[in-house]
Amino acid sequence: MNRRHIVAGNWKMNQTYEEGRNLAKNIIAKIGHTKTEVILCPPYIHLKNINNTIKDVSNVSLGAQNCHQNPKGAFTGEISVSMLKSVGVEYVIIGHSERREYFNESNDQLAEKINIALEEGLKPIYCCGEKLEIRESGNHFQLVENQLNEGLFHLSEKAFQEVIIAYEPVWAIGTGVTASPDQAQEIHAFIRSLIEKKYGSEIAQTACILYGGSCKPGNAKELFGQKDVDGGLIGGASLKAEDFVSIINSFS
Ligand code: PGA
Repeated sequence: MNRRHIVAGNWKMNQTYEEGRNLAKNIIAKIGHTKTEVILCPPYIHLKNINNTIKDVSNVSLGAQNCHQNPKGAFTGEISVSMLKSVGVEYVIIGHSERREYFNESNDQLAEKINIALEEGLKPIYCCGEKLEIRESGNHFQLVENQLNEGLFHLSEKAFQEVIIAYEPVWAIGTGVTASPDQAQEIHAFIRSLIEKKYGSEIAQTACILYGGSCKPGNAKELFGQKDVDGGLIGGASLKAEDFVSIINSFS
């Protein structure tokens, strides 16, 4: 099965305007010919400029890190899907563990964000993944299943096929501890089996499931070599053009 290969860079709350401009330029300058799809997810202030930087590069797209679940209105500090679309955004990360943890985003709220993103034509990258204590207690399969059931599996078959899933164990995010390739494969295969139960095997086989959590040039090849790992959502290592491009080139 030939699935899409995707590497997305989540810059989080990093890079001033000038820094971000340079980083995007350097990434584009270093990306050679590759079939891997690349999605840059910078802070909002960079979106319009980076959209310009990537306009002639066919395999690089723009993503946002969040959106509001309402179309517009009195929500100071928030951003809407139509605003993101107006500066060339195609993807949006929804349910990153930092949004769940620090901004108390619940699966129900995330389901609303998924809905508005899809209704207005953005493709969600829906994040799931467990904290360390959940993994240690052996409940990580159940937790991930709940996150998918409550945040995503209400979608129709057609809508679901627009979504990318990112499995990101919280204990591996920004910690330098990576899930082992076996651990990643195990849970990616589990996620694919849940998709199969809900949407059938054809949709499950084409679903794109990314791994995130301390993915770096030194471990990307092995992680991406796993049968059910279709790429990565990269935080820290996406802030260095060389490292990020090396990760992009890790598909053999
Ligand atoms: P990290 O972050 O690569 O810095 O661990 C990944 C993420 O949070 O998306």
